[in-house]
Amino acid sequence: PAAPRINPSVLAADFVNMQADLARIAAADFAHVDVMDNHFVPNLTFGPQMVERIQATSPIPLDVHLMITDPDRWAPEYAELGAASVTFHLEAADDPVALARRLRSIGARAGVALKPGTDGESLYELFDEFDQILVMTVEPGFGGQGFMAETMPKLRALADEARRRGSDVWFQVDGGIADDTIAQAAAAGADTFVAGSAVYGATDIEAAIAGLRERARA
Ligand code: DX5
Ligand code: ZN
Repeated sequence: PAAPRINPSVLAADFVNMQADLARIAAADFAHVDVMDNHFVPNLTFGPQMVERIQATSPIPLDVHLMITDPDRWAPEYAELGAASVTFHLEAADDPVALARRLRSIGARAGVALKPGTDGESLYELFDEFDQILVMTVEPGFGGQGFMAETMPKLRALADEARRRGSDVWFQVDGGIADDTIAQAAAAGADTFVAGSAVYGATDIEAAIAGLRERARA
């Protein structure tokens, strides 16, 4: 899908009505699926068994975001079950380049995520190894938090550097993305936008997705 891409986070869906809540985001680009292990972040969601069912049920491809301590061990499983992209945290991976290569060899897009306090410069030499870079705009772990504008200089520096090097890596933002914050993330270089509460909290989900897309374009 072309930019701007809107990826609703099913963390904000009703977990016991997942099939219906997936159907409601059919007009979006990817379903963003947050896997949390209660170790890397202080919250717990679900693992491969649930994601496999989401994969079988979703009308759009999956964008899996792993907030887990051992992505080297677990990330390939999500690629094998058919996720279109699998993003792991740089802070957690033993060998980020080897893991990204493994994910690509299975057929998934490889993503790497940075917490708000993690520097981006170590990725400048590695743009070719990844398909997407996720700049977290909240501390990972929970939906509904406020957007951290102080992460924008890091995003801008990464996106500028990628362009300078001729890379077409995607830049994703996640956390507090809503009508009033999405334009500044787009201006800083993001092309892919994760939104949980701004989508599932809306009365008209289709209109919310269209509105976010419109504001990301402006
Ligand atoms: C938070 C998750 C996000 C979360 C975003 O750690 O990674 O994907 O669902 O939720 P909102 O859009 O409500 O900030
Ligand atoms: Zn996420």
